Amino acid sequence: MTEPAIRSLLLAIRRATAHLRIYGPTHEVAEAAFRDIADAADTLIGSAARMMITVLDHTLYLNRAPMAGISLEFNGMIGEMEARGVESIMFEAPVQAADCGALARFLQGGDDRPGGSVVLNEDSWARVDLNDSPTEGLRHAYTDSLVALRSLGGAVKSGTGLELGQASRAVRSLLEQVVAQPEAAFLLATMKSHHEYTFYHSVNTAILAIALGRLVGLDHDDLFVLGVGALLHDIGKIGVSASILEHPGRLGPEAWAEIKLHPQIGAEAILAAAGHGIEPAAVVAYEHHAGFDGSGYPTIPNHDHTARDRHIAKSGASLHLFSRLVAVADTYDAVTTRRSYRRAETPNRAVHLLLKGAGRSHDPDAVNAFISMMGIHPPGSRLLLDDGRIAVAIQSTGDSASRPIAAVVVDADGNTLAQPVLIQLDPRRIVDQIPPLHQSIDPSYLIERLRDGIFAA
Ligand SMILES: [Fe+2]
Repeated sequence: MTEPAIRSLLLAIRRATAHLRIYGPTHEVAEAAFRDIADAADTLIGSAARMMITVLDHTLYLNRAPMAGISLEFNGMIGEMEARGVESIMFEAPVQAADCGALARFLQGGDDRPGGSVVLNEDSWARVDLNDSPTEGLRHAYTDSLVALRSLGGAVKSGTGLELGQASRAVRSLLEQVVAQPEAAFLLATMKSHHEYTFYHSVNTAILAIALGRLVGLDHDDLFVLGVGALLHDIGKIGVSASILEHPGRLGPEAWAEIKLHPQIGAEAILAAAGHGIEPAAVVAYEHHAGFDGSGYPTIPNHDHTARDRHIAKSGASLHLFSRLVAVADTYDAVTTRRSYRRAETPNRAVHLLLKGAGRSHDPDAVNAFISMMGIHPPGSRLLLDDGRIAVAIQSTGDSASRPIAAVVVDADGNTLAQPVLIQLDPRRIVDQIPPLHQSIDPSYLIERLRDGIFAA
């Protein structure tokens, strides 16, 4: 697959611009990063003479093919490229490290454009020439959500009022997309970023919460409000310093006390804004760590949300239904993500942890609904088969419960496949679940095949 290669290239560019900022252009660390860019570009070019990266509407194309997963994973960086006026970057073999240095300096804010084996904005393809992707609408909804969160994060940091219009529009399109193509939405919701963990986590939580809300019968208006609450549930974390959020070991009492303030900070910031669904969204932010049995934080006074609870039977909980749904989605995404202080758990293990917490930290009905929504092998699970192949689960619910649909991404010899192969699995062939990679596989290709019903024997 080209995804790992293009990821290496973009990571090398990100490293190079960071090193330039810290060490300057002549330091050996920066020079090594320039060479890494050249090596990664040469790998991508392969036996061809050149390759072109095009950036358009937050989407990155390699030659004419949209890189759906990559576009989301590097969404912030792609936005910065667009802000620098970059429409395309042509790499010609053999790519020179010095030209890559010039590219990094330009991206970092320098005036001089690169040249030689790295050429900007020459022969950019018009939109009409680029291949469409079936997940484009979904990716735009995801991207718009990230952009909205970045700007809200900036407002929380600077203490200015939140303007929720952008976030509301993003949630409306997320909702539309989750309804239209849930399989793709679930795959995209496995997207991870260590760079902007909180933002990606929040979008994933919104996707999962909306889908869960739909399953338990919420109407469209409620789903929208639930989505806003889910997207903003951790907005109060923006003020918490990275050294605390990324702390590798056990937190000291002071740092822990600071973390525990984020529900309140978030709720207050949301309440100070204007817009539809503000109050329930603030309640979700306030209650998402409170725990079904009240054992979490902060302590919730015994409010009666009976009117809201008609969709899921109540069993002594005083939390808002939306808070209970978001808490399940939040925990699932958090547990399946690698953090500086712990490894990523497999989706199976995350489901197991949710079950263990049912009736204590989580509403048992919300947990059961979530498990029936995700299936035995939640979308994005990496399954080791008895012949050594690795497949990524796509669907194991409904008609696919007995024979889950999965995409083989690694063959029996350990080779990564250029294109994943869709199969219907005999569950007896699954020998293990292996920990997730740091991000989702590109869903566009899979969704196309899924629609066409193309399966290998
Ligand atoms: Fe949180």
